[in-house]
Amino acid sequence: MPPLHTPAPDADERDDLRDAAVEGFRARYGTDPEGVWQAPGRVNLIGEHTDYNDGFVLPLALPQATRVAAARRDDGRLRLHSAQAAQGAEVELAGLVPGAVSGWAGYPAAVVWALREAGFEVGGADLYVDSDVPVGAGLSSSAALECAVGLAYSDLYGLDLEPSRIALLAQRAENDFAGVPCGVMDQMASSCCAPGAALFLDTRDLSSRQVPLDLADAGLVLLVVDTQVKHELADGAYAARRAGCERSAELLGLAALRDLPPTDLEAALTRLPEGELRALTRHVVTEDARVERVVALLDAGDLRGIGPLLTEGHASLRDDFAVSCEETDLVVATAAAAGALGARMTGGGFGGSVVVLAERADAERIAGAVAEAFAAAGWKPPRSFTAVPSAGARRLGFPAAVHNEG
Ligand code: GLA
Repeated sequence: MPPLHTPAPDADERDDLRDAAVEGFRARYGTDPEGVWQAPGRVNLIGEHTDYNDGFVLPLALPQATRVAAARRDDGRLRLHSAQAAQGAEVELAGLVPGAVSGWAGYPAAVVWALREAGFEVGGADLYVDSDVPVGAGLSSSAALECAVGLAYSDLYGLDLEPSRIALLAQRAENDFAGVPCGVMDQMASSCCAPGAALFLDTRDLSSRQVPLDLADAGLVLLVVDTQVKHELADGAYAARRAGCERSAELLGLAALRDLPPTDLEAALTRLPEGELRALTRHVVTEDARVERVVALLDAGDLRGIGPLLTEGHASLRDDFAVSCEETDLVVATAAAAGALGARMTGGGFGGSVVVLAERADAERIAGAVAEAFAAAGWKPPRSFTAVPSAGARRLGFPAAVHNEG
């Protein structure tokens, strides 16, 4: 079995990735970009389906990121190309409305639309996108793209936007242009995470704190297992869960399920119709509590102690929130049987990825056991890599040597 892939901890160390974006830009547009901006994908350690309930989340940024080489244009046109897609797009800003651009190019176009909707009089640009964030793996490749473009535009047009403002604009872009009713976790993670830490975020007021997560120092590994499946019902099911949560809050007379304290949960459940709404509510309330417990353990330096809470969180997503699937359940069960400290699906669900907390010495064996279990089930092999808590969105250094050559 090949050794586990560990991406570079910080893409600033990977000049080759930045230079590839610069070269791609030059080859496509025939000029130099004005800069290169980067935003990462994420995994969520815990706090799933809590963000649209005004609750808590605890994501970390991945080393895998999306880079955008960009230059302004003064003719009101937006040109979009990507190393990962044969098809680009070109659009007049004046005609930039939801529906005008689809496919991958819809995400960067959506951010420019959201900026203009928010009253920023930004002009056109040439953008060249290059990314190593796996697409469709529940690792927020779209948020990475949106946040990289948001920061590029902020710098290019002198807007000086706060990272959280960029995240909110990116969420607006995704909600109202791309038509995805997501919460704010992914965009906040991509914009605001810091190396070596998880972001403890209160999605109600966007207050946050960096919680140190030195896995290597503790002799631990956070494995990400990408099942490489995305079940079709994902989008509709997400919207349905969200609507169910909002209905429960309304029936309970609360602004959001976040306002239901765990001590009041049992009594509140009796006031909801039996079945789905009770289960959704139970997940959200217990999950918010799990986030707070995980943060307390991390603050106390007890990294191993969070394992059982991760696994408990998975059971809640599987049994109450019903967003798990055979593939993610098999990863979690196999990892546990092979000695993992804890494991859970991460992201929206219905496929995507699983995070597994393990002793460093056990990680290869656990990844091997999961691969074998998938083979035995007749499924395509999953992809595993180790997550190193990395930096949020930023402008990459752009040395004169790169800028001037050629
Ligand atoms: C997706 C959404 C997020 C969040 C998660 C579930 O990743 O984009 O806003 O709701 O699902 O926690």
